Amino acid sequence: MQKVAIVGFGFMGQIHAQVYAQLANAEVGGVVDTRLEEGKAALSKLGLDAPVHENLSSLLDSAEIDAVDVCLPTDLHHPVVLEAIGAGRHVFCEKPISTSTTKAEEMVHAARDAGVELMVGHCIRFWPEYLAITEAVAASRAGREVAGANGSSVTLGKLVSLNLQRFGGRPSYTIDSWIDDEERCHGAALDMHIHDTDYLLHLLGKPDAVFSRGVREKAGWNYISSNFVYPDGPVVSTEGGWLLPPKWGFRMTLKAVFEHAAIDFDNTRDPTLTLTLGDEAPAPMPYPRIAAATGAESDGNISDLGGYYNELEYFVARLEGGKPIETNTGAQALESLRTALAEIESAATGKVVSLT
Ligand SMILES: NC(=O)c1ccc[n+]([C@@H]2O[C@H](COP(=O)([O-])OP(=O)(O)OC[C@H]3O[C@@H](n4cnc5c(N)ncnc54)[C@H](O)[C@@H]3O)[C@@H](O)[C@H]2O)c1
Repeated sequence: MQKVAIVGFGFMGQIHAQVYAQLANAEVGGVVDTRLEEGKAALSKLGLDAPVHENLSSLLDSAEIDAVDVCLPTDLHHPVVLEAIGAGRHVFCEKPISTSTTKAEEMVHAARDAGVELMVGHCIRFWPEYLAITEAVAASRAGREVAGANGSSVTLGKLVSLNLQRFGGRPSYTIDSWIDDEERCHGAALDMHIHDTDYLLHLLGKPDAVFSRGVREKAGWNYISSNFVYPDGPVVSTEGGWLLPPKWGFRMTLKAVFEHAAIDFDNTRDPTLTLTLGDEAPAPMPYPRIAAATGAESDGNISDLGGYYNELEYFVARLEGGKPIETNTGAQALESLRTALAEIESAATGKVVSLT
C-alpha cells in the first residue's frame, strides 16, 4: 500500500485524490496546502479523511508517507520536488516539470542521485485513445497489422503526416490567477500545448528542428503553431492555445494519415476515435479504457478519470513492484520542456530552432 502525500490541493490535486481513492494499492496519506481550511473542506467533500498541513516538512514529520505527488503551480514544483527527494520519497510531479530547464535538470539529477523515482504527469501518453494511437504507429513502423472494423486485420502503411491540436478558453479557476503570470506559467504554450509536444516526442522521438509562430500576451505565449522537422519521417504540425472565448469549451484532436488509412481523434465527437481504411467509411476504432498497454498491473478497474487514472495506476504499480518508472520519467519531461521552450524561442525570433 502506497501512502501518498498530495501537495497543492487545487484542481489537479483533487483529481489525483479521486484516483488514489479508486486504487486498491494506494491511499491519500496527507494533503499539503497553504489554504488549510479549503484543503480540509475539499478533502471531506471527496469523502476522504487524511491530515492536512501547511507545508510538506510538517506532514512528513507526523505521518507515514511513501510518495509525494506535487500538484502545485508550476513555478513551485522545483523546491518541493527537491524537498521530497531530499527526504527520500518517490515523487510524482504535475507537468510541465518546471518553467526552467536548469531547475528541471536539478530535479532529474537529484532523483537519480538519491535513487528515488521521479515521474511527471504528461497524462496524454496514458490517455485511452492516445494509447491506441501509440500502438497503431508502432504497428505501422513494424509493418504489423492492426484490428480493423468487423474483426478484420489491416495494414496501415507508413505514417505520412501527423497533426495535433489542443484548444480551449482561457482557464479562470487557478488560485491567485498564477496561470496569468508569465513568470509563473509561461502561458498556454508551456502549460497546455506541451501535452502535444510531449506526446509527439513519445511517438516519434526527438525532431531535428522546429519552426513556430505564436501570439504573446501579457500572460505569456497563449497561442502557438509549430512545424517539426523529422528527416525522412512524417510531416508534423501542432497547434494550441487558449485565446478562444471562455464558453467555447475544450477540444483536443489528432489526425494521423498513413499510406492506406487515417486515424482521427476528437474528444468532442462520438465516437472519439475512428479508423478510415481505403474506400471504407470511418469506423469506430477500439481503445483500452485502462492501462493494460502501459505495463501497469491493472486491477481491471474502469475509471472515467481516463489518463489521470492510468498514469497514477502505473506510478503506484511500479512503486509497489519495486520496478523503475520507464515512461513519463523526469528526463523525458525535461526533453519535452526543452522542445516546448524551443518552440517559444522560434516564435519569438521568427527563426528555425535546431534541436540536434
Ligand atoms: N495534467 C493536466 O492535464 C493538468 C491540468 C491542469 C493543471 N495541471 C498542472 O497541475 C499543476 C497545478 O495546477 P492546478 O490547476 O491544480 O492549480 P490550482 O491553482 O487549482 O491549485 C494549486 C493549489 O496549490 C496551492 N498552493 C499554492 N501555493 C502553495 C504553497 N506554497 N504550498 C502549498 N500549497 C500551495 C493552492 O492553494 C491551490 O490549492 C500545474 O503545474 C498545472 O500545470 C495539469
